[in-house]
Amino acid sequence: MSEENYLDDELLINARRPEGELGVELLNHMNENHEGLARWSVSHLDISKEDVILDIGCGGGVNVSRFLKMSENRVIGLDYSEVAVEESIKLNKSAIEGGRCEIIQGSVSDLPFEDSTFDIATAFETVYFWPDFVNDLKEVRRVLKDGGIIFIANEALPKEDDSRQEHIIELLDMNIYSEFELRESLSHAGFNGVKTFVKESKDSFTDEHADWICLMAFK
Ligand SMILES: C[S@@+](CC[C@H](N)C(=O)[O-])C[C@H]1O[C@@H](n2cnc3c(N)ncnc32)[C@H](O)[C@@H]1O
Repeated sequence: MSEENYLDDELLINARRPEGELGVELLNHMNENHEGLARWSVSHLDISKEDVILDIGCGGGVNVSRFLKMSENRVIGLDYSEVAVEESIKLNKSAIEGGRCEIIQGSVSDLPFEDSTFDIATAFETVYFWPDFVNDLKEVRRVLKDGGIIFIANEALPKEDDSRQEHIIELLDMNIYSEFELRESLSHAGFNGVKTFVKESKDSFTDEHADWICLMAFK
């Protein structure tokens, strides 16, 4: 694909922490363009009507909406970006007013929840930016109930000699983890029974070949 089809760096940099008008633009873009990854990955997750769900790094809030249709219990979205919180609130207004949904501004490193609150905690396209991955996973584990599930979905795995990926990593100061690193980190954080699924697909930003990965593991 030609370079002119790539998203501008000025817009793309908002993937780490959306801010201002460009942040809103990117959140709308992600709500639409991450749909394929979200549908494919969530198809591996068994969600029951009773599950209390936390979506970490909820971005524009589209996965919070999805889970509100799959569970009849509470669904909470959390993001450290102010505009992400605002956009997620707009998208999920009626469920928030109905008392079944909340969107909270906060960091994965210090989750504002009691121990053993959630049945499922999800992280779509966000772990690349977590500052202290294993400790952040331990923090997620803390707020899961015994037997609760952590679910991670990424549309990027490391590529060798890929200058576009190298550029994005540098621009966004992100970590693209291999399947092995993701599995090891989950184990080091105390999770059990890690399951992984990988699919050959496309990167939603560049439209180029990318392997998608999703993992789940249990507290
Ligand atoms: C690439 S976007 C993905 C958004 C959404 N999950 C999706 O799939 O469209 C990454 C999101 O994670 C959030 N994020 C990154 N690091 C975070 C952290 N340490 N704590 C909370 N949110 C974080 C960002 O603000 C951003 O909204």
